Amino acid sequence: MATVTVPEEKKIDESPAAPAEPKPTTITLRISRVNPSENAEAKFEEFKVPVQKWTTVLETILHVKEKLDHSVAVRYSCRQASCGSCGMKINGKPRLACYTKISELESNVVTVEPMNNFQIIRDLAVNFEQLFSTHKKMKPFIINEESEVQPGTKEFIQTPQDLEKFLQFSYCIKCGLCNSACPTMATDKSFVGPQGLAQAYRYTADNRDKGKEDRLKIVDQSHGIWRCHFAGSCSNVCPKGVDPAMAIQLLRGYLLGFRK
Ligand code: SF4
Ligand code: FES
Repeated sequence: MATVTVPEEKKIDESPAAPAEPKPTTITLRISRVNPSENAEAKFEEFKVPVQKWTTVLETILHVKEKLDHSVAVRYSCRQASCGSCGMKINGKPRLACYTKISELESNVVTVEPMNNFQIIRDLAVNFEQLFSTHKKMKPFIINEESEVQPGTKEFIQTPQDLEKFLQFSYCIKCGLCNSACPTMATDKSFVGPQGLAQAYRYTADNRDKGKEDRLKIVDQSHGIWRCHFAGSCSNVCPKGVDPAMAIQLLRGYLLGFRK
């Protein structure tokens, strides 16, 4: 009698294969070097930097500082698009270095420069004094004599619609990218700028606030709101979804009497 041999069942390894490690590649990082206290002429220095898929521009600059040239000046803090410190021009466009991945730039050459329309302190670090003093001038707080919470008083109630009027403008992290992209700021150093105007609108549109008259007087001046030509570049570069160009139009509405 013939015997039938059943072939042994082939064992299939069902354990998931480990994902292949992405190979590091190398980019050329061109950093603008300038020290205005010694020599106003900026020059580019090039560095070869290894990158992975997830490497950010800030990480490549920090690699240079750690391993190749510690004297590069750059400002940063949170590394998560929250503090607004690391704004710079990256391949010609104002961006946050910690929020820009090398992979999204689609280039093996990455050029970093200080933001336009700011005074350069050294290399990539710029002076924020004007931005902060303009921000303060806009009275960036709720003005309301009854705002002190006393025992027995309740919080101000706002509807979702009330909140919607100013919410996106409250996401500003004061990174200055909008001011650096603004063509009016490039020609008028005293222009209040999109950042300040967006903040003036943010508080003016808040129905808990009673400081509208004060703020409108501040922006309705010769280097104020009417200098904006609505180029819209401020809104294109904002990393937090703020739309300063729209805020400026809405703020003009109060001055022209369309809004109350
Ligand atoms: S509006 Fe946007 S781009 Fe301008 S400072 Fe605020 S977060 Fe930065
Ligand atoms: S380091 Fe804070 S926003 Fe980039």
